[in-house]
Amino acid sequence: MGNIFDESGVWRFRELLPFFGDGSGTDYRDILVSLDGAEGKTKPVHMRFVAEYVGLEPDKLSIQSEGANPTNSFKDNGVASGTTHAKMVGTNIVVCASTGNTSSSVAAYAANEGIRAVVLIGDGKIAAGKLAQTIEYGAKVIQLQGCDFDDAMKAVVKLPGMYLLNSLNPFRLEGQKTIVYRALEGLDWQPPDFIVYPGGNLGNCSAAGKALVELHELGLIKKMPRLVVVNAAGANTLDVLVNEKGLSWNGGNVDRATIQNHYEYLEREGIKAKTKASAIEILRPVNLDKALRALEATDGIVTSVTDQEMMDAKAIIGRNGFGCEPASAATVAGIKKLVAKGSIDREATVVGILTGHQLKDPDATVAYHRDPRNQFANTPILSTVDNLADVLRL
Ligand code: F0G
Repeated sequence: MGNIFDESGVWRFRELLPFFGDGSGTDYRDILVSLDGAEGKTKPVHMRFVAEYVGLEPDKLSIQSEGANPTNSFKDNGVASGTTHAKMVGTNIVVCASTGNTSSSVAAYAANEGIRAVVLIGDGKIAAGKLAQTIEYGAKVIQLQGCDFDDAMKAVVKLPGMYLLNSLNPFRLEGQKTIVYRALEGLDWQPPDFIVYPGGNLGNCSAAGKALVELHELGLIKKMPRLVVVNAAGANTLDVLVNEKGLSWNGGNVDRATIQNHYEYLEREGIKAKTKASAIEILRPVNLDKALRALEATDGIVTSVTDQEMMDAKAIIGRNGFGCEPASAATVAGIKKLVAKGSIDREATVVGILTGHQLKDPDATVAYHRDPRNQFANTPILSTVDNLADVLRL
């Protein structure tokens, strides 16, 4: 048997995530949490049709499918590290609010460690695949009536006596730094010009920013890639605050009034997050400050894309024989938009992160393809057996 912590795509980078101590006196193998080394076995690959679709050179665009994790989303990177910390502090119950992927991952890692898990979800706001995983892995699932993710997030931080595994938890972000490490490793440690993420609660892009700053400080990369964060148009707080209101990290002096005014406006108008990308249906991202910091450190860019742009991009990713859930396709739709605008040069090297597996939300995929009005729909054809030859034009 090999060492699962050398197999894990998270823990083989453990020297760069040193929160669990230097191991003196204790073997790290007694501390670290892993689903048998299965998390983080991802790498950037080329997708010809996606490159063509977004207008980049095929060998300059790399796509990393974090859906190829044990619970089929990037969350496993961070839940491995977050659960490690939970174990270090002697937790026997963990909790999270979730749009479905965090909950699937938390439920699985907690189950494997014999820790109880509680999950708060919004009302009807979770894709079937994610709910199926979360309940099967044994978490106690509480669906908050009349609530969305933002409400659930507000409620979860007030729960006493449970270890919070949302990305607000900095130990979550440590593991998610490894997404960047693996992307760079796949590019022989030659930093790309851009690394692109969908943005919801803004933990993942914050982790990427932290990873890049640290690698740069350590001298392991000489050039800083620019982070790109892509919101859904119906959940575009970061886009509005950065691009319309001019909000920035500002050396740590974030203008709170701008944020407050925006949230009050949303409240007053009764505006709720609304997008087919249920994973990122979030209007009050808890990692906003960290994301602003990551953007400043990397000279980052923020944009947003419509559901239609996302679903079209998703269909193209599918045509490459890969797949992803709607929120992940924001990455590709965002790259396309920024290339068209000239914000990403056609000669640029770009890494796009796909965050969740296609089968997390099959309903969204089937609905898209069943509707022939969609540009890339591959609509199933109705036929009788007798008509088969005609239908297939044999
Ligand atoms: N993509 C997918 C598939 C996600 O599940 C999420 C977040 C994101 C992108 C956004 O990442 O929050 O770090 O900006 N899902 C959370 C959840 C909110 O509960 O599963 P972020």
